[in-house]
Amino acid sequence: MESTVKKITAKYGSDPSQIIAMLQDLQSAKRYLPEEDLRELAEALAIPLTRVYRIATFFKAFSLEPKGEHIINVCMGTACHVRGAERILNELERQLGISRGETTADQKFSLETVNCLGACALGPVVVVDQEYHGDMTPGQVDKLMENYR
Ligand code: FES
Repeated sequence: MESTVKKITAKYGSDPSQIIAMLQDLQSAKRYLPEEDLRELAEALAIPLTRVYRIATFFKAFSLEPKGEHIINVCMGTACHVRGAERILNELERQLGISRGETTADQKFSLETVNCLGACALGPVVVVDQEYHGDMTPGQVDKLMENYR
C-alpha cells in the first residue's frame, strides 16, 4: 500500500517550499507526526531531517506525540480564568484521568489549554474539535463529555 508520505508528495510534488502544507496533511491523516514519516518526507524532499524537525516543532499545531481522537481545549486566558476556567480544567482532568497536555491511554481524548480563543464574552470557553462551548461550569463537564464518549 502506498504510504501516507508518498500520497502527500504525489499531491505537492517534491518541492520543499510546500513542507508546511505537507506536514499539515500528515498531521490530519495520522493526528500527529510520526518519526518514520518525517524521515521518509526528508528523504523524498532531499532535505536534512533536522530541517523537517525544526518546522515540526516550531508550529503549535503540529505534534510529535500521538493525539487523541478528540482534542479538548480549555481557555485559560484572563477573562475565562476569572470566571472559573481552572475549576473546569480540574474537572476535565479528574474525569479523563489525565493532566493538561496529556492524551488518554485509549487515545480518545487530548486535553490542552490555550490563552484566549477570542470569544471572551462567552467565557469560560471550552473547545472540543473546533466546536465552541461557552458559559461552562464544572457541573456541565459531564454532559459535554457524553457527546464525545
Ligand atoms: S480569555 Fe477565554 S476566550 Fe478570551
